[in-house]
This record gives sequence, structure tokens and C-alpha cells, in this order.
Amino acid sequence: MDADQGFSNPSTHDSFEEVLGRRLSRRTVMAGGLATAALTFLGANQAAADGTSGRGGDDHDRRNDRRPDGTPRIEFTSIARNPGGPWPTIAPEYDFSVLIPWREKLDGSGTSYPYGLTSAEQAMSIGIGHDGMWYFGDDDSGLLCINHEFGGLPHVLGAGRTAPADLEEVRRMQHAHGVSVVKLKRTRQGWKLAADKRNRRIHVNSPVAFSGPAASSALLVNAAGNPMLGTVNNCANGVTPWGTYLTCEENFNGYFGRTVAGTNTQEQNRYGFAAAGFGYGWHLFDPRFDLSNAAYANESNRFGWVVEIDPNSPKVAPVKRTALGRVKHEGATVVEGRGGRAVVYTGDDERFEYIYKFVSSKNWKAMRAKGKSPLDEGTLYVAKFDDDGTGQWLELSPNHPALAGRAMDWILVNTRLAGDLVGATRMDRPEWITRGADGQMYCTLTNNTQRGTVGTIPGTDPAAPRPGATPANPLAPNPDGHIIRWLDSDDHTGTSFTWDIFLLSKDVVDAEGQMYGSPDGLWGDPDGRLFIETDGAQPGGANDQLLVANTLTGEVRRLFTGVKSCEVTGIAVTPDRRTMFVNLQHPGDGDPALTNFPEPFTGASGPIPRDATIVITRKDGKRIGR
Ligand code: FEO
Ligand code: CA
Ligand code: CA
Repeated sequence: MDADQGFSNPSTHDSFEEVLGRRLSRRTVMAGGLATAALTFLGANQAAADGTSGRGGDDHDRRNDRRPDGTPRIEFTSIARNPGGPWPTIAPEYDFSVLIPWREKLDGSGTSYPYGLTSAEQAMSIGIGHDGMWYFGDDDSGLLCINHEFGGLPHVLGAGRTAPADLEEVRRMQHAHGVSVVKLKRTRQGWKLAADKRNRRIHVNSPVAFSGPAASSALLVNAAGNPMLGTVNNCANGVTPWGTYLTCEENFNGYFGRTVAGTNTQEQNRYGFAAAGFGYGWHLFDPRFDLSNAAYANESNRFGWVVEIDPNSPKVAPVKRTALGRVKHEGATVVEGRGGRAVVYTGDDERFEYIYKFVSSKNWKAMRAKGKSPLDEGTLYVAKFDDDGTGQWLELSPNHPALAGRAMDWILVNTRLAGDLVGATRMDRPEWITRGADGQMYCTLTNNTQRGTVGTIPGTDPAAPRPGATPANPLAPNPDGHIIRWLDSDDHTGTSFTWDIFLLSKDVVDAEGQMYGSPDGLWGDPDGRLFIETDGAQPGGANDQLLVANTLTGEVRRLFTGVKSCEVTGIAVTPDRRTMFVNLQHPGDGDPALTNFPEPFTGASGPIPRDATIVITRKDGKRIGR
């Protein structure tokens, strides 16, 4: 694609109608007709503009960020790669500042606990592994909900550490995971964490509740009778139209292990449980995470859910919504579909896994008026991408012939196995999903080095061979990933869709060559921009980055780069979209020889780098992405 100088000049652009028309005719050939797509585009814009997407929509002054032809204004200077530097870079039209690093106290003092803090101190301060987040507030103050996905053993306990020494060290790691809810305020010195009685941490030992069709399933009960506790590996997120936050449990299997040799069940195999897990060693001191402890046999079924948090209600326990199924949920993107139904899209991030959709049974406002959660009653589907550019949502319930006779709670607890049985399409690691201003859903398929290689997919029964290239996952192997998009029938509530590939990473180039690989975080704004965040090997050994794409033309510019060995992830905006928050996760992989972020770089003897949020603003105060 063309990402050179020309596209800052509006006169060189095709008109909105030309671009849309060309794309539609391409899809007409491919997908057999999309006569209503233009209408859908306008309808979706309206939904985004009135804020019903729950994703930062706003209606005032919106046209200011589109050209007269309807294309989004993306005019900033695309910056060069950051080839391994210890400090972020940003486009010259922009500024950034640092907010809520790991271990900052929740009390608004602006101070942090020192490295090596106790587990009790960690439970009163910002966690590690900043990931998905959303901001609930006005343009100057509000509550930020932020996920703490991941903290490796050496990063938390110290260089060279390979196992915890006692339960206190396990607790310190557990309290670094989960979610923070914190008040943010814009001051003369920039955005700060402010004291607020709603500031809190939710972590692996916090009380939680279960709701929905599998909530009282025997598959969630332990002989030990232990209470429902905690959330872990909180990756991406979602936001509901009723103002709550969804945090998503991704690689939960890695926190479990075995103290005694044993054999996985088929269900445990399908989710990748292993004797040593990912090496956290929690099972050595906390029996909840010991797969060989019969008293806690179902503890591992209590993770892998989408969890709802009301930011304003600290006394209400987070609720695991079982109707959305149990997979390694990357995120849970909510849109309002036909009839006011809540529609939730969620990807399962592992090689050859699936994309899911949940549709509430009724209008979400009507359900809430009757005291019901729109996330507890509805239909769960899994996606099948057909080679002709169409697709189907396959129902995951006993109504599907392949699941006849299966109990609903089994389907919801073992959703991956249900997806296998109905014949869903194996994708290249589905990560974030967002709705574009064109009403289409965009999903990052971050990479898949195993597609088309010889071998089987772990845990599948009977062992499934690794598939080769298909139109929806066209590269085998696929080291750099792609972004797919689809238009759902019936305003998100139907069971068919049309799809195409938006970008193959390998084809997005500028003067330095390929611009990025491994797209992961994704957010579509109401003007037709797509913000793309990366996590993985970047071309030229560059640092991970934040890019902005034009969904109508496919043009891409680089806005921001992170530091060496970090991931750029999480994205949230103020309602006016003049402030954007993103995260630097695992800067330097915790190694001070690579970066001391957010402290200035002084080398290996400097401070351990800390995960933190980055606040992005434009020098001229205009919208982010312009
Ligand atoms: Fe937590 Fe798939 O990233
Ligand atoms: Ca991710
Ligand atoms: Ca990733």
C-alpha cells in the first residue's frame, strides 16, 4: 500500500463516495452483493456519534475531524522506527506524559512503594502488566479501570528468581495482577491519580460472583467449599452502554500447576494446562492453583471468563458472566445491535482459536429495567469464515445438531470444545475487536507461525492437523499477522456476515520498509480512524508502537513508539478525544540494562523499569489521530 507523502494533501484523495463505492464493488464481486452497506455506514456513524457504542463516541463538533469528502483527517508526521531505544518517541505535533506506574499508591499522594514491596502494599497500589482499560468521566476528571495482565517472576520477585520461596511471595505476585480502579484528574501539571473512596484494587484473592446459565453448575464447585475468588491474566476489555467495565481473563491456564504427577482431563488438555504452568509456582504454596489437589478440582474452571465491574460501586463484587463462555478471552467489545440488544464480540487468543459473539435476548434497557443483566440471557455464537467472503455465526447451544444432548453449562465451561464440535474457523490468534465508523467489526489476528506447518493443534481430540492458508487466514506461516473485518447482518444481531482482509501487515510499508508486525490492541474512532497497537517482533528490530490507519484507504502512519522490549497496549480516550491513554507493558522485560522507564535511562545500575500509562495529547489541543 501507499504510505508516502501524498496523503497529507486532501486534494490527492479519492472522495469518500469513490472509495466506498470501489470497496463495495470489490466486495460485491467477492461476497455476492452488499447493497445496504452504504446505509449501514451512515447508520453506524450515527450510533458512534450518539455514544451508543460505549467506546468514546461523542457528537459535538465531530465533523471537524473529517474532510469534506468524509475521510478522517490524519495529518500528523509519521515518525521513524524506534530501533531499540530506552525511551518512547512521538510525532512532533504531539506530547506525552507518564501516569500510574506499577507500585504507585492509590491514596493520591503521588508516591510509590519501593521495589520489593509486601503483598499487602501491592494490594494498595497500582499493579503490573498494564493492559486493556477504559476511562469513565468527563474531559477533565473521571475513573480509569485498568487491567494488570502479567508480571513475570524475575520482574516481580527479582532478577534470576525462578520460583517463589513462600506464600507471601505468591501473594505479592497475585496482588500485582487483576484490575485497578482509580480517579484521574487533569491538573496544571498534567493528569494525576487523585484520592477517591472508589479507588481500589481487584486481584486474584478479591471476592467475585458468578452469574448466568452456568453460575450454579457443579463444574464450578470445589469439594473444599472455598468461596469464589479472584480474576487473573486480565488482558483486553470492554465497556457496556450502561457504564460498566468488562475485564477479560486470557491465559489463566499458566497460573495452575501440579505438585503431584497426574493426567489432564480432555477438557484440561484443550485449555493447555501443564504440570509447571508458565512457571509462576503459585501451586507450590496456594492449593487453589494445584491441579493435583482434589479438593480444588474445579478451581481451574473458575477462570477464563468475562468479568463485569461497576467502577462507581466498590462494594459490589465483580461478576463473571458465564453466558459469554469460557475461553482465553482477549477482550469483550460491546455494541448496541438491532432492537437495542447488547452484542459482545470476543476473541480467543491462541493459535487456531475462534472468534465469538453473544447477542442478548432482548433490548438491554428493558432487561435492566426488570433487574436482569443483558449479559446473562442471550445466544452465544462462534464464527465460521467461508472462503467466498461470507460467513456464519454458529449457535453454541443444544439447538445446534452437533451439540444436541450437551448440557448448556458444559458448553459454557468448555466453550473451546463446543466450537470444535460445530466446525468453527481456526484463526491466527484473534486479539482485539473494535467497531469501525463504517459499522464493520475489525479484529487483529496477531500472528501464527504454525499455520501450514506439520503438526497437530494441542489438546484437540482427535488431534487436529494444523490447517494451511485459507482466504480468511491467507498466509502460511503468518509471522506478522493481519487485520480482518466483517459486516454483520441485521445490525450485529444476525447469523450471517460478509468479510474481507483490511490489512496484511507485510504489505504496509513506508520509506523504511514494512511498518509493523503483530497487531494487537485496536480501537476505531467515530471518524474512521483505526488505532493499531503492536505486541511482538517488529520489522528492523524496532520497538512496539502505536499506528493510525484510515479505514477507507488503508493508509497508515506511526504516531508513537514504546521502549525496548515492551508492548504498547490498552487504549482509552476522554469524551472529547483530546486526551488518549495507552499503556507500556513490561518495558525492557524488567531489565534495567535496556530501559529504566519511566525514569531517565542511566543503564543497568538504574531503577527496574515499571509498566505505566502514557497520556497522549496534541500540542494544538485538537483530536488525537489528526
Ligand atoms: Fe493478552 Fe493476547 O494478549
Ligand atoms: Ca493482547
Ligand atoms: Ca499479543
